[in-house]
Formats: sequence, C-alpha cells, structure tokens
Amino acid sequence: MGSSAIVTGGAGFIGSHLADALLAEGYAVTVIDDLSAGTRERVPDGAELVELDIVDTAALARELTERKPDAIFHLAAQASVVASVENPSRDCAVNVQGTLGVVQAAGEIGAPVVFTSTGGALYGDDAPMPTGEDRIPAPLAPYGASKWAGEAYVRTWSLSSGIPHAVCRLGNVYGPRQSPHGEAGVVAIFSNHLYTGRAPRLYGHGKPTRDYVYVADVVSGLLAALGNAGVYNIATSTETDVATVWRELSAAAGKQIEPELADLRPGELQHSCLDISRAERDLDWRPQMPIAEGLRATYAALLEEFAHSS
Ligand SMILES: NC(=O)c1ccc[n+]([C@@H]2O[C@H](COP(=O)([O-])OP(=O)(O)OC[C@H]3O[C@@H](n4cnc5c(N)ncnc54)[C@H](O)[C@@H]3O)[C@@H](O)[C@H]2O)c1
Repeated sequence: MGSSAIVTGGAGFIGSHLADALLAEGYAVTVIDDLSAGTRERVPDGAELVELDIVDTAALARELTERKPDAIFHLAAQASVVASVENPSRDCAVNVQGTLGVVQAAGEIGAPVVFTSTGGALYGDDAPMPTGEDRIPAPLAPYGASKWAGEAYVRTWSLSSGIPHAVCRLGNVYGPRQSPHGEAGVVAIFSNHLYTGRAPRLYGHGKPTRDYVYVADVVSGLLAALGNAGVYNIATSTETDVATVWRELSAAAGKQIEPELADLRPGELQHSCLDISRAERDLDWRPQMPIAEGLRATYAALLEEFAHSS
C-alpha cells in the first residue's frame, strides 16, 4: 500500500501547492479545510476534501485516527495579522487549540507532523538580520503569539511522544494562487494593481525589507522537514525591499505606474530576514528560485488567474 498524507489548510495558497506535490510523489492525499479562506477549486482533483473546522477537536481527532495517515502537514490557520488583532480569541482557538488537537491525534496514531509557523511575525526590529531559530521570539501581534504557542505544543508533544514533529518558520511566501485580497501577500496585491492599472501604496516609502520565498521552495522545505524533530527557518536569507518588488513586477507587466508613498503602519516591521543555514545543513534543503525569476513567473500565473476570475 502507498503512503498517505493529510494536509490541513490544503484548500489554501501554500497547502494546495503542497497537496499537488504530495500527489505527484504518489501519496494518497486528504485535505482538511473549513474553506474560511481557502476554496474548493484549489484542492487538486486527486485529493479528497474533508470540510471541517479544526477547532472541533473531536471531529478532527476522528478524521485523523480513522484515516491513520503516514504524515500530517498542518497548515490550517487563522493567517491574518489584522484579523488576529480584531478577534484574538478566534485566532487563539484556531492556531493554538487547533494545533494542540492535531498533535494530540497525531500521538494516537504515531504520525509525524510538519507545522507551518511564521518567521515574519515572531520578532521585532531589534532582532539580528538574518534571524536564527534560537532568537527568543517577541511577537507584536496576537497572530505571532498564537503561532509561537502552537510551536510550543508541537515541540512538547514531539518530546513527550518521541514522534519527530517539525516546525517550519516560513518567510514571506509568494507565488501562483496567492490571494490579492488579503492584507499581506504584497506580490499578489501589487500584481493585481498592475493588472487593473491602479497605483499601489508603498508603506515605509518602499524601504521595508522582507525575506520573499517562492511557494515551490516552501513545498520542498516542508517535504524535507518531514520526520525531523526541530525548528527550521524556510526562507532565503535574502532581504528585498518593497520598492524592488514593485519595480520587478512592473517590468514583468511591462507597465509604468507611479506608486503612492506612505509612512509605515503601526506595528509593521522595518526589516525581516531569516537565517536558513540550519535547514541547509540539517535538511539538505535550499531555495532554488531567484527572486526576479520567481516574480516574473508569479505575475504570469496570476495574470491568468485574474483574467479567469473577472
Ligand atoms: N503566506 C505566507 O507568507 C506565510 C508566512 C508564514 C507562515 N504561513 C503559514 O502557512 C500556512 C498556510 O498559509 P497560506 O498563506 O496558504 O494561507 P491561506 O489562508 O491561503 O491557507 C490557510 C488555509 O487554512 C484554512 N483554515 C483556516 N482556518 C481553519 C479552520 N479553523 N479549520 C480548517 N481550516 C482552516 C483556510 O480555509 C485556508 O484554506 C498558515 O499556517 C500560515 O500561518 C504563511
């Protein structure tokens, strides 16, 4: 019998790419998603979708223990910083209680978990660049706090059960299928502005930097982390400023639109960049996609998606 995997959040941006990759590797794939941010259309044809809110831990445990997957990729999350500020209780329920439910059920069936945490929302501007995994987090928003708490449960359950659960702290992920309608995901947002011919607003006058990582590289990082107990930054260790992202995408679109420049919004970081040397050394993983090429590929893919949805 072949291997099987469960992807929570598999109807979302990153999870749907991961489901594609697992199917291509021969896994039988089940997606668990409540479709609060994801869509049915993103779930690949070969995967089964179970519509479920992971906060319903009894239903979640039933699905996981009945299916007994060989691997669990836990991506389902309340993934919006703004929503976490507006409703920290729901953020906590999904990201903390939901994650606890996943590792508890994983313990019953002995399945390793790969948990997607955040590298961008755990630290403040005083962190060294690039930031290593051992830096003590100091999140500025409930989303960072709930992800950090989720990490703690994943590590605690890994230690007590001996099952090698991995925590992957992702940089700023971009690529095809990212929604342009969230508050984050600047590549998708800028692409949509270029598509519709509207000027974007560049906060921090375009100077803030982020560690942009292409979604296919994140998928290979999550697969490499499976079966390894530890915390790994999955990013590029390269800082790119927002103005450069706008410039590269404008070149890809062949359009020239003057952006509006604005001050940084409260709580926004000036810099974020993750040290990936641990993942390179311990997982033998490294990102493959150069940013300029990744931005061009993403713009081309998003253009088709926008045309289909309008
Ligand atoms: N996109 C990034 O740059 C980034 C960076 C760091 C970490 N992450 C993490 O990676 C994971 C995937 O992020 P994404 O960008 O694909 O986001 P996304 O919103 O596209 O995907 C999250 C998925 O989880 C589902 N979901 C939300 N709440 C749920 C619940 N209660 N029960 C079941 N399903 C639920 C949503 O419907 C959605 O399909 C998340 O854990 C996120 O925190 C993302």
